Amino acid sequence: MKRTAVALAHPNIALSKYWGKRAGGGNVPAVPSLSVTLAGLATTTSVTFDDALAADTLRLNGAPAAEGALARATELLDRVREAAGLRARAHVVSTNDFPTASGLASSASGFAALAVAAARAAGLDLPAERVADLARQSSASAARSVFGGFVELDGEVARPVAPPGRIPLEVLVCVTTEAPKAVSSRDGMAVTAAESPYYAGWLETAPRLHAELRAALLAGDLEATCALAERSALAMHASAFAAGVVYVSGATLDALAAVRSLRSEGVSAYATMDAGPHLKCLVHARDAARATERLARVPGVLRVIRAVAGEGARVVDAAAGARSDDPAAEEPPR
Ligand code: DP6
Repeated sequence: MKRTAVALAHPNIALSKYWGKRAGGGNVPAVPSLSVTLAGLATTTSVTFDDALAADTLRLNGAPAAEGALARATELLDRVREAAGLRARAHVVSTNDFPTASGLASSASGFAALAVAAARAAGLDLPAERVADLARQSSASAARSVFGGFVELDGEVARPVAPPGRIPLEVLVCVTTEAPKAVSSRDGMAVTAAESPYYAGWLETAPRLHAELRAALLAGDLEATCALAERSALAMHASAFAAGVVYVSGATLDALAAVRSLRSEGVSAYATMDAGPHLKCLVHARDAARATERLARVPGVLRVIRAVAGEGARVVDAAAGARSDDPAAEEPPR
């Protein structure tokens, strides 16, 4: 017997960052984080459980996936099989409509789409919180892509905090290289926790920045939200730097200088960076065109991708690509 479901998920960018895990395993973040799910960029994943298959298979962007990626997908599929009492292996096909080296975390949208599609294909009718928990165990930031708008991940629990329109935010992704990142976030945060003299400072600072950012967002204060996001990113990178974990490049710092120069001209523009050299500019929508034009001129910035807040992961009709009534697609409470 064959059972198929298709899901679509968007990447997300953390405004207050997750960096470091709790001791004890289970991939639980050491600090709370808050992200924005991005519309316009998507991973689409189909999962077919098939009794005739001898092993799970995974195709990523049109080619068979590497061993490591397949193993991580199988871990998630095993959790779904256990919950559903299912033994069939699965055929998984996943495609990103954005370049893998765009600096946008394809693992977040990838595991969110996989969790939603696998749960549905296995016949499970899970609330979005449970689907997010399945995704989190594979990649913590993926839990946030299950929901739309502004989303919090606190310990094991991901939840929507505010709808996409809460603040008029645009995210400008400044792509600085086509190369894959040298150090994964998983490894980078492990080295930071083990070796950074400032990791304790990060653990103390991050929850406070997160709480302040959350309050600013709920108050509809774009300026304060983005200012705190920049602080969170710089504090995260400072703790990593002190362990020898450096993700920024010259182009990242030049783009950061351009963001700060825009700010000195009265533009509400702030910067954030993840485990790679691509700077993301957080900007008021009214200034997005001006900021894009400025950032595109920074030496080393190859292109700028513009994105706004979007919806959470959802089951789509395989044929029509239409939205279904999946619970993960629910709008967050207003
Ligand atoms: C810098 O979620 O990729 O993007 O849980 O080990 O898969 P794993 O890590 P991952 O880490 C994301 C780190 C970050 C900040 C963030 O998204 O909060």
